[in-house]
Amino acid sequence: MSESTGNHFETTLGRLIVEKGLATEQEVKACMKIHKAESGCEGSKLRSLGDLLISQAVVTSSQLERLRPVVEESGTTRNIPGYEYIRPLGAGAMAKVYLFKQLSLDRLVAVKMLPRKFTNNKRFIERFYAEGKAAGKLNHPNIVGALDVFNVGGKHYFVMEYVEGKSVYEQITRQKRYSESEALGVTIQVAWALDHAHKNGLVHRDVKPKNIMITVESSAKLADMGLARPVDDVEAAEAEKGKAYGTPYYISPEQIRGMVDVDGRADIYGLGATLYHMVTGQVPFDGSNPSAVMHRHLKAPVPPPDQFNPSLSDGICEIIEVCMTKDRDSRYASASELLEDLEAVKRGEPPTQARRKFDLAALSALEPSAEVPRSVGAVVPQKSALLTTSPLFWVAIIGWFIAFVLLMVVVILEGS
Ligand SMILES: Nc1ncnc2c1ncn2[C@@H]1O[C@H](COP(=O)(O)OP(=O)(O)OP(=O)(O)O)[C@@H](O)[C@H]1O
Ligand SMILES: [Mg+2]
Repeated sequence: MSESTGNHFETTLGRLIVEKGLATEQEVKACMKIHKAESGCEGSKLRSLGDLLISQAVVTSSQLERLRPVVEESGTTRNIPGYEYIRPLGAGAMAKVYLFKQLSLDRLVAVKMLPRKFTNNKRFIERFYAEGKAAGKLNHPNIVGALDVFNVGGKHYFVMEYVEGKSVYEQITRQKRYSESEALGVTIQVAWALDHAHKNGLVHRDVKPKNIMITVESSAKLADMGLARPVDDVEAAEAEKGKAYGTPYYISPEQIRGMVDVDGRADIYGLGATLYHMVTGQVPFDGSNPSAVMHRHLKAPVPPPDQFNPSLSDGICEIIEVCMTKDRDSRYASASELLEDLEAVKRGEPPTQARRKFDLAALSALEPSAEVPRSVGAVVPQKSALLTTSPLFWVAIIGWFIAFVLLMVVVILEGS
């Protein structure tokens, strides 16, 4: 790119020099003033701003060369036909997100752009477009809408609904933790979003506080279908086999294991871990590195959430426990089953689906032949009251007692 592309290059260059601490704003402004004055003088040879900055010893030529690709990247990012650049919104591990105005419809949109380092990675590009297509299938008030996916000048963009507000992650960071009722309100909305996605054959696979946006009207929206993939996309699943996609703090055990048939229950685990973080102010499992965290997701029992927040109801603790059960067969089978319990606890009633699962687990534990794995994936009620309040538990005990008495009678009769 030649510097004659004008204003954008100059203002971006000036801004970057100040941002990177290479010179003060005053020094840059002084050079820009000279540059402007020179460009107004007929007959004089116009120096580029870069040359001027070097001649004034504001930057060295090697510093300028290092800045050139950054300025160029910034220039192409901003030049999307039909859109007007406004400002950056944020950056994640994989991409940057900017606020633009879509001129045809005169509306604000969020545009996610793949960084240059990924544009030569075919698999990554495919994944980026898969995200767009997956999200484009969904239409729900609690899901950030996907509007377009395209490629301009070799750069890849994903246009989505702009959500004015904060992410749950930012809110946790600011206020430490949510009240139980606030957390239930957000979780219910995300569970509705998951219910919609799952019914359309899509698994999000990256449910976490950073991907839940809270609008200024306080409604929750599930963002970033970045790791989404149709449930029946076996080919893509095979390609990813053995790789742990997802974010370690909220990732399900089956994703860590790189299982091919990851389904909606992985999102229920992620939502349970997110709810845990919301109500306790801490992640369920921490560690010095991602693999230590993942190891705990696989092996360690979930620390009871009321240990960190004693004001939590039994109901919400039971919901978290069932969501975060390591064996997905013992989790809520669907988002609608989870919703039943979330709404019951919000009304101050017990979570009947969770209790039913505890009853089943207690019954299996009583069957001598039934195996309930205890370290990974067992539903182990943390509150002993759950067992003793269960009617099925007492039916089983009485049954065993009657069988025992009958056996004794037979033995006595045979002996006499
Ligand atoms: N639709 C949107 N509307 C408004 N802001 C958004 C939108 N999507 C993303 N953002 C902002 O851009 C940031 C980066 O989003 P991105 O999805 O790339 O990463 P992330 O989810 O924050 O983190 P990670 O890469 O770890 O998953 C977000 O944290 C959020 O602040
Ligand atoms: Mg995100």
